[in-house]
Amino acid sequence: MPEYQQMYRVLRRQGEDVRALAAYRQFGGYAALEKAIRQQTPAQVVQQVTDAKLRGLGGAGRLTGEKWRVTRRTEDSQKYVICNAYDADSRSHAARLLLERNPHQVIEGIILAAYAVGASEAYLFARSTFHAGIDAVQEALREALEEHLVGRDILGTDFSCTINVLGVDIGFMGGEETVQMALIKGRRGMPEQRPPYPAQAGLWEKPTAINNVETLANVPLIIRDGVAAFKSVGTANTPGTKLVTVYDAAPDSQPVVVEVPFGTPLRTLLSLAGVTHADSELRAVVVGGAEGGALPLAQLDMPFDFDPIEEAGAIIGSSVIELLPADTCMVAWALERSRYLSKESCGKCVPCRLGVKRIAGILEGIVSDLGVNGDLAVLDEFAEYVPNGSLCGFGVQAPNPLKSAKRYWPDHFTMHIEELQCPTGTCVPVRAHRFVTKHVLP
Ligand SMILES: Cc1cc2nc3c(=O)[nH]c(=O)nc-3n(C[C@H](O)[C@H](O)[C@H](O)COP(=O)(O)O)c2cc1C
Repeated sequence: MPEYQQMYRVLRRQGEDVRALAAYRQFGGYAALEKAIRQQTPAQVVQQVTDAKLRGLGGAGRLTGEKWRVTRRTEDSQKYVICNAYDADSRSHAARLLLERNPHQVIEGIILAAYAVGASEAYLFARSTFHAGIDAVQEALREALEEHLVGRDILGTDFSCTINVLGVDIGFMGGEETVQMALIKGRRGMPEQRPPYPAQAGLWEKPTAINNVETLANVPLIIRDGVAAFKSVGTANTPGTKLVTVYDAAPDSQPVVVEVPFGTPLRTLLSLAGVTHADSELRAVVVGGAEGGALPLAQLDMPFDFDPIEEAGAIIGSSVIELLPADTCMVAWALERSRYLSKESCGKCVPCRLGVKRIAGILEGIVSDLGVNGDLAVLDEFAEYVPNGSLCGFGVQAPNPLKSAKRYWPDHFTMHIEELQCPTGTCVPVRAHRFVTKHVLP
């Protein structure tokens, strides 16, 4: 059984300040860029990222090497790289911390990606509220420009790539890749149909490699230390580490960000983040952030990795993990999540715009003691209809809170509907409505 510990591959140890170029170089910074540009072809860089099985860390886990191979092979004189440092889920702190603490590793990753796919222009797309992170990147870019690590004729070769930094805040949907491309072009931020995928026809219809900031920050490590070193932690399917933002069950709990190898059992991950609750004090662990699923504590020994988490009904998503206290009514929890998500839907796809709202409406009826047995079947219908009719991942994942609550706590729903009781006594029923409704509806 491997021992799982907190790691410092991208986040860096407290006190290991690598924000300045000289300090970053002391810890091996830009050695990967030197190695790649002077000794390796772009195809070799893509091959190493492929061999490392580096998965997209923005939530979906697509293989980065595969994406880059398509971008590289698509013939065009102009190609782009986009670094997604947005953190759609405002409770995630991974992208912000990476920009603030390790801006040169992000820049090195972007330039390596550009070299690999043949791009001469890149965009770093951050949330405009990340003031300190954006400042840190701007300062790092200024230093990198002076040393010819970015911009024209990088390291004295004929490879050039500029990085544009953009700060935007349009809520949750600003993290979605086609929304970001629309915003860069000055259009309204709504998702587009795929295919064609950005790797084939992205920004201004040009081949575009769009990757999460954490994905890109891992690339220098693969090139500098080699594929075997990168794969020395993590699982066979998902090598490497993940930044996870953990929230304890207390209402005023502050987020803690940990970097852990994929495969770390959830229970270990929580204790690495300093969480020490007894199971009896808790109801559930929510994995994947705002669109994540709630899992019962019996699942705490599950490894943190894409497949097991998704099979259990949650997602890696924004990598936010939250604990729910023992007195949580899971109908009320699913309602609160669905309400929030219905506000964040961009509204382009009717099933997402209306479906998530209907889910919230039905759940509101159930917690108000207005529920009827038929509601459960209608909720199941919406849980299928919304993902099937949505253009982007937002609609695909939006019913997760509802589905996981129904899957693991069906008794909370039936108790509300059949006994007009909240299982934890925390929901406030609308009594007057209950009286009328129970006589009118079947
Ligand atoms: C609603 C929504 C929000 C998203 N938010 C983010 C985000 O904040 N950061 C991110 O990297 N990817 C986000 N994604 C995924 C991106 O669309 C895209 O797949 C990702 O940036 C690709 O990078 P990766 O392959 O390195 O993960 C989001 C997707 C959706 C549907």
